[in-house]
Amino acid sequence: MEPRSTATPPAALADHAVRLERLLDKLLSPQALPDEIARPERLRAAMAHGLLGGGKRLRPFLVEQSAALFDVDGEAVLRVGAALECIHCYSLVHDDLPAMDDDDLRRGQPTVHRAFDEATAILAGDALLTLAFDIVTGPESRLQPDRKLAIIGGLSRAAGIGGMVGGQMLDLEAEKADRPLAMAEIETLQSMKTGALLRFACEAGAIAAGAPEKDQARLRRFGEIIGLSFQLADDLLDIMSDPETIGKATGKDATANKATLPSLRGVDWTRERLQDLVAEATELLRPFGSKADVLVHTARYIAFRDR
Ligand code: IPE
Ligand code: IPE
Ligand code: MG
Ligand code: MG
Ligand code: MG
Repeated sequence: MEPRSTATPPAALADHAVRLERLLDKLLSPQALPDEIARPERLRAAMAHGLLGGGKRLRPFLVEQSAALFDVDGEAVLRVGAALECIHCYSLVHDDLPAMDDDDLRRGQPTVHRAFDEATAILAGDALLTLAFDIVTGPESRLQPDRKLAIIGGLSRAAGIGGMVGGQMLDLEAEKADRPLAMAEIETLQSMKTGALLRFACEAGAIAAGAPEKDQARLRRFGEIIGLSFQLADDLLDIMSDPETIGKATGKDATANKATLPSLRGVDWTRERLQDLVAEATELLRPFGSKADVLVHTARYIAFRDR
């Protein structure tokens, strides 16, 4: 097999991850709730296990970079990203459960149900989902009310039956289907299970920044494209990488009969498709000029990352 060509992450990603993790850590600290509200320590610890340490933090980075196109940054935008990351991490905690993908390793650590137990992992996922809405609606979220409402609505739709959760259902149904899914069906499944949160990450930055509707739509389309390429890259890594590099099991999609495009069309086709998607994403951001350099770099990294 030919060697993998990989892209390096944008330099700003690591600095962003530090700031995001500091905020997530604060939001989950034992001191974050008023004294009169009881907080089961085992649940908090399981949430922290699922949320902190090791993630690439790409979704919140996309929120921040999309807002930066419109010269907006700061804590309000970081909090939107933090909310999205809570939903992403909840989706991973549940995705790893025995009833779903049954995985033992995530981000180089035991999955939440392995480190704790299944019931606690289910509850930790539930609580991460609701924490997301607490973060965007709480008094410390300084977004203007109309933008806040748009973010809450968008988050709900991206996470729910028409988005991530609906896509996870299609993913599980496809494992048991009596025929392989067609390309268009796989793209629909992936645009929901993975694409919806990534699309909304890009759109949310524009909403939080109060960007004009036509720019919001452009960012939404950009997010759609990188959502597709994100899952293609994830599926390629499952075939081509190893657990030491990506911090999770590999070779599982074939064993579990997952519906993926590399399995339907092959690795070379997938790499070419990724090139095309990156070109399309780059073209979409051309009107923003050099301001979009980091987002363009991120699109390339998402498609050709090594983890
Ligand atoms: C992995 O997501 C799961 C998918 C949605 C395909 P990431 O690759 O973003 O996982 P982390 O957050 O960096 O661990
Ligand atoms: C997971 O897709 C998508 C969501 C969690 C919504 P995968 O099942 O392919 O993700 P990994 O490979 O376990 O990270
Ligand atoms: Mg899965
Ligand atoms: Mg999985
Ligand atoms: Mg995968």
